[in-house]
Amino acid sequence: MTTQEHETGRRAVKAVIPAAGLATRFLPATKAVPKELLPVVDRPVLQYIVEEAAAAGITDVLLVTGRGKTSMVDHFDRRPDVEARLEEKGDKERLAAVRRTSELADIYTCRQGEPLGLGHAVGVAASHVGDNAFAVLLGDEFVEQDRPLLPAMLDLQARTGGIVLAFIEVAPEETSRYGIASVKESEFGEDIVEVTGLVEKPSPAEAPSNLAVVGRYVLPAKIFEAINNTKPGSGGEIQLTDAMAQLLTEGTPVHGIVYRGHRYDTGMPLGYLQTVVEIAAKRPDFGAEFRQWLGEFVAGGAKG
Ligand code: UTP
Repeated sequence: MTTQEHETGRRAVKAVIPAAGLATRFLPATKAVPKELLPVVDRPVLQYIVEEAAAAGITDVLLVTGRGKTSMVDHFDRRPDVEARLEEKGDKERLAAVRRTSELADIYTCRQGEPLGLGHAVGVAASHVGDNAFAVLLGDEFVEQDRPLLPAMLDLQARTGGIVLAFIEVAPEETSRYGIASVKESEFGEDIVEVTGLVEKPSPAEAPSNLAVVGRYVLPAKIFEAINNTKPGSGGEIQLTDAMAQLLTEGTPVHGIVYRGHRYDTGMPLGYLQTVVEIAAKRPDFGAEFRQWLGEFVAGGAKG
């Protein structure tokens, strides 16, 4: 199969956010509260992700939810009662912030009846997505707002018609926590590589590179057929990686963009705390005060 046979030219306009997982690494906080709604300063993680999609020109966002997760969708609804109270108080800033959540994108939702894996979660989006390429944004990580990643991924996918992944470079001892790619140079320039294979969580000795897959994908619609053909893999789950590997074997071009900005991973307590501290320290309104306090706290010998 040649690249010419892959549909090119059209930029994806829909995004899918799989958010139906059990979030076991963050229990017990996530027994009743989805990890996607944990606050990073004054916005839930999920809002940063929808903002990332909206800033890349995506106006149609599908949230894949599961049991106990409907509150995620409520966050993007209008709240006329809250808005009226803020209006009465003359709190224009908060009023604008509350309204903004319902204006970011058109939010749709569908259910993954059982958390059978990331591949399965993407699969339930098939009828909403239709025949065009689309983005997948995992619900517990996001990137720096002023160093976006998605626009370049969407542009590249429109050129190749294939799969576009995002990578970060990790230290050798960290490879066993990620999907790692084997790659070769691409015709698209520095920081864009052609992917020749993917290995799930390899030991440092087995890792083909230090390029780790992060939670942003732009996929052609034929991924759905590949997901349907994918048998449960590691952990008994239907893995997106297995479905992508199938397309790669069949000749679909797969490229990856190496992201040089900072990726925030909020799926576990440590990464979540680091994210909150970093974002708080950058806040224009109270970042300076927070940094000063943090400096004093650390200098004062905060003990483990
Ligand atoms: P994770 O493995 O990070 O999420 O999946 P998890 O399974 O919820 O968390 P842990 O590992 O138990 O702590 C990546 C993304 O895919 C979604 C998750 O919600 C998360 O955003 N996902 C995962 C689903 O939507 N459905 C699934 O069956 C599995």
